[in-house]
Amino acid sequence: MGTEREFLNRHGDVRTLPLSGHVGFDSLPQQLVNKCISQGFCFNILCIGETGIGKSTLINTLFNTSFEDYESTHFEPSVKLRAQTYDLQESNVRLKLTVVSTIGFGDQINKEDSYIPIVNYIDRQFEAYLQEELKIKRALYRYHDTRIHACLYFIAPTGHSLKTLDLLTMKNLDSKVNIIPVIAKADAISKTELQKFKIKLLSELVKNGVQIYQFPTDDETFSKHNADMNGHLPFAVVGSMDEIMIGNKMVKARQYPWGIVQVENENHCDFVKLREMLICINMEDLREQTHARHYELYRRCKLEEMGFRDNGPSDKVVSLQETYETKRHEYMNDVHRKEEEMRQRFVHRVREKEAMLKEAEREIMSRYEHLRRLDHDERMKLEEKRQLLEEEWNLFNQMKAATELYPAQGYGSVSGSLKRDRKNFM
Ligand code: GTP
Ligand code: MG
Repeated sequence: MGTEREFLNRHGDVRTLPLSGHVGFDSLPQQLVNKCISQGFCFNILCIGETGIGKSTLINTLFNTSFEDYESTHFEPSVKLRAQTYDLQESNVRLKLTVVSTIGFGDQINKEDSYIPIVNYIDRQFEAYLQEELKIKRALYRYHDTRIHACLYFIAPTGHSLKTLDLLTMKNLDSKVNIIPVIAKADAISKTELQKFKIKLLSELVKNGVQIYQFPTDDETFSKHNADMNGHLPFAVVGSMDEIMIGNKMVKARQYPWGIVQVENENHCDFVKLREMLICINMEDLREQTHARHYELYRRCKLEEMGFRDNGPSDKVVSLQETYETKRHEYMNDVHRKEEEMRQRFVHRVREKEAMLKEAEREIMSRYEHLRRLDHDERMKLEEKRQLLEEEWNLFNQMKAATELYPAQGYGSVSGSLKRDRKNFM
């Protein structure tokens, strides 16, 4: 039987069966295209480069639009980032484009920390996406994804080599974003110098272990072209929104006393190569790499930092629920331990205070006792004195009475006995 042969044609447990007529799921790719078109796309570019190196001009030239812009000063105390979002439309495809540019990059005397605000910015966008993903009620369909998909790193056309600032910045960013280095204002460098400069830059990047974005070569359609373009990196670009009539055509160009540099002329610069690679061929790959590689790394590190693991001790697979329970248990144990520590400390402090108070009480009591004794002695002495005085007083009264009775004779004997008593008293 024919079907028996088909049953044998197995891939694991799944049988491959031919259809006996049209079903319609061959329209799935088209359904996907329609869905994407109705949703629209978003693309976020980060431009890193010194003040006035030509970032805004290049973005304007790439998207053939004069985006609103203002010049930065060279007196920024630190590096900042400015993000601007625009809704663009080409045919029936809508693109939400966010351009993030550095302000004051390379203008500080100490440039050591210049990359930090950039790293923080990229991480903040990853964090916002992660928080949205972790919500109970997620709205990723409507969420404005601000994660950076491509980073154009503008290298000054010195013809010399990369600056420490360039290497340091790219090195700190290469695991977070797709870096596409470009040689800015390439009309400032001669053709032979440019080739040497490109080779020098690439070797410096390799020597310092900086990973730049490579155009993908796994998709057959573009693998050859992309591989070829990888050999032209870093692209030497010229930007300009000025148009000049060449022949019978208006072209974007920069005009100098000695000649004209045409932006879209491949003999003059690599602008067309950059536009083709960045926008026409690899925009989706850049978005995908951002999600699958850079965001995935951020998410993994972040969840591990929070204590989540896929595998527990002895490599056992651990579910999110189990990890949560373990963490909760650890947390509660920790809280109890801290509670007990605080209780012990409190009891200890109370005991110390109690002992101090008892000691103070003892001291006060002994002083009180001492004073009480002194007071008692004093009272006794006073009582004695009072009694003697009373006796003296009585004697005096007796003498007085005797003197009044016998004014001439009795005085001597009475005063004699009074003197005797006085001596005893003294
Ligand atoms: P800030 O945003 O202020 O940091 O500047 P920026 O990097 O955006 O530079 P911007 O595009 O404003 O260009 C600065 C100057 O460089 C302008 O005068 C541009 O005309 C000029 N410029 C831009 N691109 C090129 C280029 O490819 N070659 C040459 N020679 N000049 C250029
Ligand atoms: Mg600018």
